[in-house]
Amino acid sequence: MIKLGVNIDHIATLRQARREAEPDPVAAAAICELAGADSITAHLREDRRHIQDRDMFLLRQTVKTKLNMEMAAEKEIIKIALKIRPDDVCLVPEKRAELTTEGGLDVVSQKNKLKEAVKRLHGAGIRVSLFIDPREEQVIASAFAGADCVELHTGKYALERAKPHGKPAAELKRLELASRTALENGLILNAGHGLDYRNVLPVANINGMNELNIGFSIIARAVIVGLDRAVREMKDLL
Ligand code: PXP
Repeated sequence: MIKLGVNIDHIATLRQARREAEPDPVAAAAICELAGADSITAHLREDRRHIQDRDMFLLRQTVKTKLNMEMAAEKEIIKIALKIRPDDVCLVPEKRAELTTEGGLDVVSQKNKLKEAVKRLHGAGIRVSLFIDPREEQVIASAFAGADCVELHTGKYALERAKPHGKPAAELKRLELASRTALENGLILNAGHGLDYRNVLPVANINGMNELNIGFSIIARAVIVGLDRAVREMKDLL
């Protein structure tokens, strides 16, 4: 059965909006696991806009399923990952001004740098995934870099699905072709970004898909479905 990795970054986004202790992504991770999540993903960005170092170290102690740390392939963050020792690392591109991870890693143009990063992480027993656009050459370069896994960026597919006259079928085809290449090259196949309750099933049905990483839509829905109870609890208290 396909697995669900829940990305808890935006629990931390809410906390950082007030620099308070709540909501705590560490507590949120436990709830996600009890609800059936197969893994917990958190992105320690270089600008620390949501997840903080403290979160990653505590998650390492509390997550019982699998901890997947998203991060840039940069020296300082790699050093931290080697201390945390998550089960998996997913290497992603990072730009300071972006709202979210906008595109996949260009593995083709930085094969050697990524190969070195993969080697260092493997040395600590960490499995490595590369977050890439669904393009054959990026998949092949990922295999060359020694990755265990690729996570295909589904953001373009999600955008096309959301447009009134979008072309999601062409994007889905790209995802299917890249998926086939990943499997042929012995890579574990994951996907994520922009997946929600309306657009997820065609991606989940791609042959050989192992795990989907979903964050924003789940956290956004949690706020809406939880609001009624939260207001009632305050009203009861008053
Ligand atoms: N996978 C990767 C590599 C990501 O960078 C993100 C966003 O942080 C996700 C999955 C989850 O995307 P979303 O929050 O849109 O579900």
